Amino acid sequence: MDFSFINDYYLSYIQGAGVTILISFMALLFGFIVGLVACVCKISNKSVLKWIANVYIEVIRDTPLLVQVMIMAYGFPMILGVKYPTMFGYDDTFTAAVMAMILNSGAYIAEILRSGISSVDKGQMEASRSLGLTYLQSMRYIIVPQAVKNILPALANEFISLVKESAIVAFVGVTDIMFVAISVKNSTYNGFGPYLFAALIYFVITFTLSKLVGLLEKKMTVER
Ligand code: ARG
Repeated sequence: MDFSFINDYYLSYIQGAGVTILISFMALLFGFIVGLVACVCKISNKSVLKWIANVYIEVIRDTPLLVQVMIMAYGFPMILGVKYPTMFGYDDTFTAAVMAMILNSGAYIAEILRSGISSVDKGQMEASRSLGLTYLQSMRYIIVPQAVKNILPALANEFISLVKESAIVAFVGVTDIMFVAISVKNSTYNGFGPYLFAALIYFVITFTLSKLVGLLEKKMTVER
């Protein structure tokens, strides 16, 4: 096993880790907004909104992220002439990849939010309505505070998934950890070390995060 490549390429790996974390963070943040909108539409009583939200959530969750990233990066620019703006000094495929990740995460987050809300016993809504609170007041003061306890750990887990799933963006040329590993393998003909090193970095990031999620979960159950 040859790990001499680390000396020459560790800076690239660090940069790659930055890209991976940046993409995952943006996907979580903006995915949350998209997911919230989709969730509100899904639980609303307007059937058009419900239908749109359902189609969005199902299409995203039932097709591979790789395909979504490819369509966003190559498909839309080709058939619709879409031009993505650049950001953070990366090229337009970076933007396309981030947008695909946001849309993907939004669908998963919509379901996290919905199941968080429906995990609160129906009696809570009935009780608070019978005390004279309006639907929105019940949501604001009774349902959402209880739902947050289920939602926060699940959102943290979504971030962990995003860190790992984002490896797919390497296939449209975004220079994340995986992309660096592939490039190092191509230039050193070392087919094992570069990937192992990438795995180690992913592991360190996700292991740290999952320990934090564990702490968060513990804290939330004590408070119950
Ligand atoms: N790897 C799966 C796919 O290609 C799961 C994606 C999960 N995405 C997420 N935001 N949790 O579709």
